[in-house]
Amino acid sequence: MRKRILVTRKYPTSGIKMLKKENFSLTLWQKDRPMNPDELSKMAMEHNALLCTLTDAIDSRFLDQCSHLDIISQFAVGFDNIDTDTATRLGIPIGFTPDAMSEATADIAFGLMIAVARKMFFNHRSILSGDWGYFNPTGHLGCELKNKTLGIFGLGRIGKKMAKRCMGAFDMDVIYHNRNPLPETQNTSNAKYVSFEDLLTQSDVLSVHCALTPETKHLFNWDVFKKMKPTAIFINTSRGPVHHEKDLYQAMKSNEIWGVGLDVTDPEPMVKVNPLLFMENVCILPHIGSATKEARNQMSIMAAKNIIEFYKTGNVPTIVNPQVFSS
Ligand code: DGY
Repeated sequence: MRKRILVTRKYPTSGIKMLKKENFSLTLWQKDRPMNPDELSKMAMEHNALLCTLTDAIDSRFLDQCSHLDIISQFAVGFDNIDTDTATRLGIPIGFTPDAMSEATADIAFGLMIAVARKMFFNHRSILSGDWGYFNPTGHLGCELKNKTLGIFGLGRIGKKMAKRCMGAFDMDVIYHNRNPLPETQNTSNAKYVSFEDLLTQSDVLSVHCALTPETKHLFNWDVFKKMKPTAIFINTSRGPVHHEKDLYQAMKSNEIWGVGLDVTDPEPMVKVNPLLFMENVCILPHIGSATKEARNQMSIMAAKNIIEFYKTGNVPTIVNPQVFSS
């Protein structure tokens, strides 16, 4: 019997072609919007496997209804949309696509840092609103990044690439905080481990690269922003709920920090009247960290491979919950 795969969005064709070549029976969701929870569970009930992404709510309600699924293959490195504990309890392996988007996302973090430091979005808006005026010797001054201190929260695949860019381009000193210091062999960026407190007080640019978990949800809140330098730039390209958005706005408004660059917001999409969007030292993008042809192609190939290998060999090359195979 041909295995039936539900493909929840329009993913890059490279991975879809691979699945077709293996003769799976594919159901391709054709709309631009994601399925709503009822559509998703109703359709998933008729399928053996799921190729999904962060806009699909794979929560305990869904998993209890669709506990028959052989595999869930997530097109993303983050998987906070999936209740991994429940999936593991039900014995469902979850594939994901780590590292496919590390370069692309580090580029966005690095780009946002410069864009904020030089008030690029604000200055762009001033042209659109007819306010260019004359060359202004004292107008809209930004700051330089040379020799500043970059603090990385979550020195993993993407954080290391951000560190490398900042060291190479601006000779920045790099400090980081993880749950535990990395062994020397894994700390290829020669970043210095510091406590969370020191990360806050010493960073000129603080860039967040952690996963969204119950521990990191709203970690960057008013109390935390208050400890940062009033000249600091806060960058988040991981997940919106890692920062508390109202507190972030208050911190900017009361000059607790100097600038903000976000590729992720809470909620997404951000409403177009959000006051953060109109601040001079704020640059916000609509979650485009992995949006390059290279990254998205690689993600679709990895997501397809996870399904193909699973059915061929019982192995999932990049898996979130390997313990499903040992229990
Ligand atoms: C991810 O992979 O988790 C990104 O946020 C989207 O590509």
